[in-house]
Amino acid sequence: MKNYTSINDIDNIGVWIKEAKMLKADPYIYKGLGTNKTIGLFFFNASLRTRLSTQKAAFNLGMNTMVMNVSGDAWGIEFGDGTIMNGTTAEHIKEAAAVVSQYCDIIAVRAFPTLSDKEKDESEYILKSFIQYATVPVVSMESATEHPLQGLADAITISEHSISKRPKVVLSWAPHVKSLPHAVANSFIQSMQKMDVEFIITHPKGYELNPKITKNTTVSYNQEEAFKDADFVYVKNWSSYSDYGKVLNTDSNWMVTKNKLGNAKFMHCLPVRRNLIVEDAVLDGENSLVIEQANNRTYAAQLVLKKLLENG
Ligand code: CP
Repeated sequence: MKNYTSINDIDNIGVWIKEAKMLKADPYIYKGLGTNKTIGLFFFNASLRTRLSTQKAAFNLGMNTMVMNVSGDAWGIEFGDGTIMNGTTAEHIKEAAAVVSQYCDIIAVRAFPTLSDKEKDESEYILKSFIQYATVPVVSMESATEHPLQGLADAITISEHSISKRPKVVLSWAPHVKSLPHAVANSFIQSMQKMDVEFIITHPKGYELNPKITKNTTVSYNQEEAFKDADFVYVKNWSSYSDYGKVLNTDSNWMVTKNKLGNAKFMHCLPVRRNLIVEDAVLDGENSLVIEQANNRTYAAQLVLKKLLENG
């Protein structure tokens, strides 16, 4: 593996989960692997979990970390090829990525979509430009269309909490006041497609995700029906994909309640808006796995960094 930018970079998810659990049980076992190695974390957007868990993962491997809020602190980066740079951008990605590669052994990037220009978002121009012009491995800390560190952490969490051999997992849309990306949902779908689970997606009409991601996964417009006998309910808002980036529905009937959840375990990537996406009783109840998901972000990142360091 040269870079980690997608759940599709995972060759065998069962083996990866087993290895992540081993790292969780003994986090400092590879402490020497990252000695004198540096990871640079470059954020075009806000973060709490990704920023801290990726640093924690690096620390566990003995790496040094450098963190930069690109949008606030760096020179404005130009991504266009051949652009006459007489506007607001001061530095081209060709130099920026090459320069960063002098200081870092691994580069990690977070860059959200515009949610207004589908073609631009799907081109993943920020992540792909880093890959093109950097001379070291690149890790996605959430791109325009995927959040593979989250998807891996979620797969680890489901594996840890599965009682049945083939659990029923539901991905449910829930209402939100803002237009949100598809990345978390996309990576969760991709990780579930690699696991031995019964998987169903439920959302209101108009919220169909990219068919290239959902493929032949069952979709139901009836949340109550979809939740029946579920072992895990993963809740996430996303904006419309077909009517790109639009909020079409804020129906509070789609909010997840304790009553709807029944005995299923509740999952969300966080941050989550209480009593909009999910009611307090669920998040504060014993069936919530959200803190465990956040904890597993460290071991998902640690596994990815370990593999990249070993590739050398
Ligand atoms: N789940 C997640 O990526 O959280 P942050 O946006 O806080 O990093």
